[in-house]
Amino acid sequence: MPNTVVVGAQWGDEAKGKVVDYLAQQADVVVRYGGGANAGHTVSAGNEVYKLHLVPSGILHEHVTCVIADGVVVDPRLLAEEIQGLRHRGLPLNNLRISSRAHLIMPYHIVLDQLEETKRGASAIGTTARGIGPAYADKASRVGIRMQDLIDDRRRDRILGAAVDAKNEVLTRLYGADALDTGTVIKEYTAYANVLREYVCDTAPIVAAAAANDRGVVFEGAQGTLLDLNIGTYPYVTSSHPIAGGACLGTGIGPRAIDRVIGVAKCYTTRVGAGVFPTELLNPTGDHIRERGQEYGTTTGRPRRCGWLDAVVLRYAVMHNSLDALALGHLDVLSGLSTVNVAIGYNVGNRYVETLPSDLNSGETVEPVYEELSGWSEEITGVTRYDDLPSTCRVFVNRIQELSGVPIWSVSVGPGREQMIQRTDGS
Ligand code: GDP
Ligand code: IMO
Ligand code: MG
Repeated sequence: MPNTVVVGAQWGDEAKGKVVDYLAQQADVVVRYGGGANAGHTVSAGNEVYKLHLVPSGILHEHVTCVIADGVVVDPRLLAEEIQGLRHRGLPLNNLRISSRAHLIMPYHIVLDQLEETKRGASAIGTTARGIGPAYADKASRVGIRMQDLIDDRRRDRILGAAVDAKNEVLTRLYGADALDTGTVIKEYTAYANVLREYVCDTAPIVAAAAANDRGVVFEGAQGTLLDLNIGTYPYVTSSHPIAGGACLGTGIGPRAIDRVIGVAKCYTTRVGAGVFPTELLNPTGDHIRERGQEYGTTTGRPRRCGWLDAVVLRYAVMHNSLDALALGHLDVLSGLSTVNVAIGYNVGNRYVETLPSDLNSGETVEPVYEELSGWSEEITGVTRYDDLPSTCRVFVNRIQELSGVPIWSVSVGPGREQMIQRTDGS
């Protein structure tokens, strides 16, 4: 099993959780490498549906070591709840490891996330309100608190106390908000320390050893390429590095240990939160996709913005992630449409482009240029062989392969593991 990065090729929610769960069947280690509880990764196994936020999507496989790596910002309250919830459902979680270097989301990060959004007014990002931006900002400012600080009984009270006192100055003086009670925060976080302690260790050697011995490591991306802090649709992005390169930011490996990068994409596009979305459909077709695809956020329940597939975005994802292949999903959602569109380029002002402009927020109009293909009327959720898909559906898949420039490794026709179909036609 090659060491594989699974990365979102669009704006998140592409079904990375499902692809990771599928690959985990063959893997020894699954590593979540970035983001925090802003992620919501759905894994369906039989009649059971798991919505994971911090715990890696390999967790249903008892033979897999699941690592929350250094680049993740961990909300101890949400992680403790997630662990308890999964245990309640019968998962032992003996195989979970949390990096001692992972930074913590503190209560003030969540308050600040909301205050900053309010201050942005009409330019609000539409964050998940999980404290992600403020936590990564503190990490970069070198005032973050790490998992190893949380579980250290000698230092915890002092470190947490100093941090809450410092942030209370910001909350009260800058925003006129209420101060947090330092003692309450320390007490609450001490309880989380006691739940999480048994899972915390230096995770890098575990990942390094597995990767070096060809035991099969899956690096689970969160968010998506277009939400990357560097190359996403800034400032309407998250504060981490969801792209494949993020998988070697402190997980225990360097880029040469990665054998394969699989981009996950829907056969249409969705986005949650604000920011440019050239192929968005604010019409009944967009509503049709939202309802058929049940496109409501896994983390916040917000309706996702829906639109046609965008090959400009896919090519951009191929470039920034060195994608070897795409796992293309949600083909079942487009059943019943007489025609389906794919954007092949944009008219930006008076120019035609086929690559993503670096400044999509300049105020120039961005009009997608579409190629129209025939749709298919058949319900396809029960199809198990690629060749049994309607011919127009296969033409659509082949065209996406041509336009993106990488092979379509798998297609999927529903949320279940068994609804992921490997290509069998040799393409
Ligand atoms: P992630 O954040 O990339 O892991 O994706 P999410 O879990 O947030 O969103 C993907 C949603 O699509 C989940 O509800 C999945 O159960 C569902 N899903 C995955 N693959 C398919 C598919 O092929 N068809 C349909 N209809 N739903 C799918
Ligand atoms: P998964 O891993 C979709 C979006 C938010 C917002 C922006 C910034 O499930 O694909 P943040 O809370 O990170 O500061 O919000 O990023 N966003 C996601 N959208 N899927 C996600 O994760 C996302 N994580 C963050 O909606 O627009
Ligand atoms: Mg999601």
